Amino acid sequence: MTSSRLVAILLPAALLGIGIASSTGPRTCVRTAPAQDPQPDPVRLLVSGSLLGRLEPCGCASGQLGGLARRAQHIGESRSYDLLIEGGDVVDTATELDLMKWFTAMQVLFGQHPYDVLGVGSKDLALPLDEWSAVLATAPVVASDLESTREGWPVKPFVEKDVRGKKVRIGSLTLELPEVLRTKDSPVRLLSPADGWKTALAGATDDTLRVLLLHTDEAKARALVPTFAPAPDLVVVCDRLYVEPSPTAQKLGAVPVVFAGIRGRELLAIALTRLPEGPRATCEVIPLAGSKTVPGGGGDPDVKEILLGHRRDVKEQGVLAKMANQRATPNGAAYVGTDTCRACHPSAIAAWEKTRHAQAWDTLAKAEADPKRYGWPVTAYPDCVGCHVVGYGEKTGFSTFEETPHLAAVGCERCHGPASDHVVSGGTKKLGLYGGVHASVLCSQCHDFEQSPDFLYDKKWPLVQHGREPKK
Ligand code: HEC
Ligand code: HEC
Ligand code: HEC
Ligand code: HEC
Repeated sequence: MTSSRLVAILLPAALLGIGIASSTGPRTCVRTAPAQDPQPDPVRLLVSGSLLGRLEPCGCASGQLGGLARRAQHIGESRSYDLLIEGGDVVDTATELDLMKWFTAMQVLFGQHPYDVLGVGSKDLALPLDEWSAVLATAPVVASDLESTREGWPVKPFVEKDVRGKKVRIGSLTLELPEVLRTKDSPVRLLSPADGWKTALAGATDDTLRVLLLHTDEAKARALVPTFAPAPDLVVVCDRLYVEPSPTAQKLGAVPVVFAGIRGRELLAIALTRLPEGPRATCEVIPLAGSKTVPGGGGDPDVKEILLGHRRDVKEQGVLAKMANQRATPNGAAYVGTDTCRACHPSAIAAWEKTRHAQAWDTLAKAEADPKRYGWPVTAYPDCVGCHVVGYGEKTGFSTFEETPHLAAVGCERCHGPASDHVVSGGTKKLGLYGGVHASVLCSQCHDFEQSPDFLYDKKWPLVQHGREPKK
């Protein structure tokens, strides 16, 4: 995709707005704490970060939180925020799909309810810089510790807003560059955290509220925050490991520190003010819940339309096949398909055929065909396919159902690794488990906290149990 095409699609959406949120839709948010606020006229921030490419929940389990459509609906209904802040790390990797997701997220963030600040995480910087810079040319994208010699570099050292006569300054520290930019002639340079913070505050008056986004983990944040002078009034840590943001701000010295959470499942509403005794932040976690029966249920209809467009683009451009066959397999052998195991492992085959793993592809195909459940091309969407087949992304692995039907569903080799050498050797070449990991780790590659919230190995293994042929 060329950058001119990206710009062409983004600009009309950003300039014209995409529509007005319906106020009659289902309620998307359950407030965890009543908004009781003794502060005098605080600045109200809505904060999130580390979306990591999760534009919508996958729907593999009921009750999943998050999604950009529900977020937009919440913002449209609430209308009480002074500043909308997205921390960054919008995507997780830098594949062709990620670039398309990132672009889709930008359409949403700068469409109907335009964000005031977009921070930059190192994962964002791994995307192709030409596309990235072109799309963000007019966006409030902030990184105080990045410098670049590139023409048209869109990153600003800070954003300052006037909120009812109070000045609010927002800076952001990326703190590390992605591998691709850690070269000698890299077009992007990283300043020290101290210099970055100085840049973020250049020309700020003493009474300006100082907000700092930090792209790092908790331990590093603890070490860094006390070193900043003057002290920030609020630090937002955009961590990749934190699962749930907390409704109480931690204090590091006098500085309130909050965690933005991951995957956009929850938003953090923060009321910030500076009192004579120091800064004060009151937080409220807003879980983005939807319908229990409709995957991704609820949400702003215009944003849903944008997401649907993205999914159709992914299918039309054949992204699934393009992202197949990229990496070497973990043991160097080739995938041969579950049927090949039948002759020598009849009892394991019989056990497997009774498990849900054998149905995993049909489940996707049915989900796609049912407009009440999905109704969009999930069998052409790499994220869905990856966990419901064998070896997607690896050489000789699944590519499309038409080309590799023998690798659809969670077959034997997804868990034991590619078996060509094992088969040729008549079983003498050992297989073990995929990548040599422990069994419970293997399961959690797909059964994670969102797909299978109550997954316990000891409870679930008996449901798929099998082994060697009984000795005759
Ligand atoms: C030509 C016969 C043959 C075929 C085909 C075959 N295996 Fe085996 N496999 C064996 C033999 C023999 C053993 C050793 C059995 C024993 O010790 O009880 C074995 C053992 C195993 C083991 C346990 C030991 C180890 O290597 O980790 C696994 C797992 C396994 N096979 C998986 C598979 C899978 C998956 C397939 C299909 C892709 C497959 N096998 C195809 C013959 C075969
Ligand atoms: C990280 C791996 C992973 C990804 C990504 C994933 N799935 Fe799943 N999916 C699972 C697992 C694991 C289950 C089984 C959950 C359980 O029952 O514990 C499942 C179950 C399902 C089910 C059956 C749910 C039911 O209630 O019957 C559907 C439908 C489904 N997935 C569709 C999708 C779609 C569509 C996508 C892409 C938007 C997707 N999956 C992405 C792992 C994944
Ligand atoms: C969902 C993952 C998964 C799938 C799918 C799967 N297995 Fe296994 N398999 C395991 C695990 C986990 C073990 C137990 C390994 C252990 O105890 O260390 C195992 C054990 C085995 C063993 C005995 C290994 C030993 O060393 O005693 C054989 C043989 C085997 N599997 C063959 C197969 C065949 C053939 C298929 C396809 C019909 C299959 N497996 C499908 C996960 C899987
Ligand atoms: C490649 C991803 C993947 C891996 C690895 C995986 N599963 Fe699954 N599992 C799935 C999917 C997808 C489904 C749902 C299939 C469907 O309903 O169509 C599922 C369903 C199940 C189910 C039925 C639903 C439930 O929760 O009762 C059990 C049990 C299960 N898996 C156990 C395991 C165990 C145990 C392991 C590890 C040994 C494992 N799985 C590894 C993808 C995976």
